[in-house]
Amino acid sequence: MTKLNVKDYRNPDYPIEDMILNRWSPRAMSGEPIDAEQLMSLFEAARWAPSALNLQDRFYLYAYRETSDFELFFQLLAKGNQAWCDKAAVLIVAFSDSQLPDGKPNPWHALDAGLAIENLLLQCSAMDLAGHPMTGFDAEKASQDLNVPERFVPQCMIAVGHPGDPSQLSEFNQAREFPNQRKPLSDFIREGKYQ
Ligand SMILES: Cc1cc2nc3c(=O)[nH]c(=O)nc-3n(C[C@H](O)[C@H](O)[C@H](O)COP(=O)(O)O)c2cc1C
Repeated sequence: MTKLNVKDYRNPDYPIEDMILNRWSPRAMSGEPIDAEQLMSLFEAARWAPSALNLQDRFYLYAYRETSDFELFFQLLAKGNQAWCDKAAVLIVAFSDSQLPDGKPNPWHALDAGLAIENLLLQCSAMDLAGHPMTGFDAEKASQDLNVPERFVPQCMIAVGHPGDPSQLSEFNQAREFPNQRKPLSDFIREGKYQ
């Protein structure tokens, strides 16, 4: 598979680390398995993400493509995601813990989950794996079908796989199978007060 050069698509206005720019969300995956060591490296990256009070208030369930659980996870996905996720090596559901250790509501769980998911995605990209986050899935069904206690909120699914041949995607997905752009900084930063 010819590796696409992200710098042909993305030019930051200010210098940033390559690992940030190189992460993008491919849909073309080959269907080849990834080994347990590789998968654990992804969760290890997530593990070292910061969290409020170092709560580490996150939890993941996963299914390899070759296992019977994969179908269970696959059925949680919206149709538009099912269209390309059948070639993922692993499907992950990322949860956050909505309760603090004392049982009170945890105001930071979603933020903490997001930080860890980005770490996982950066690790995918550094290992030349395709990692793609998705909120297009049935969160209620995920909690039910995967027997997850109510305190854990399904935040995101992530498809992980070896890069595949984009020509295997639908025409719709082929047309968007490249690293996309960003708004200019001036659209979303301002010094001092809002007004
Ligand atoms: C919270 C979240 C939910 C997303 N949900 C989906 C999804 O359901 N299906 C999909 O194909 N992509 C999904 N994406 C991928 C985004 O479309 C993608 O991150 C965005 O276009 C920026 O592109 P990049 O990740 O390639 O840099 C999601 C991304 C995030 C962060």
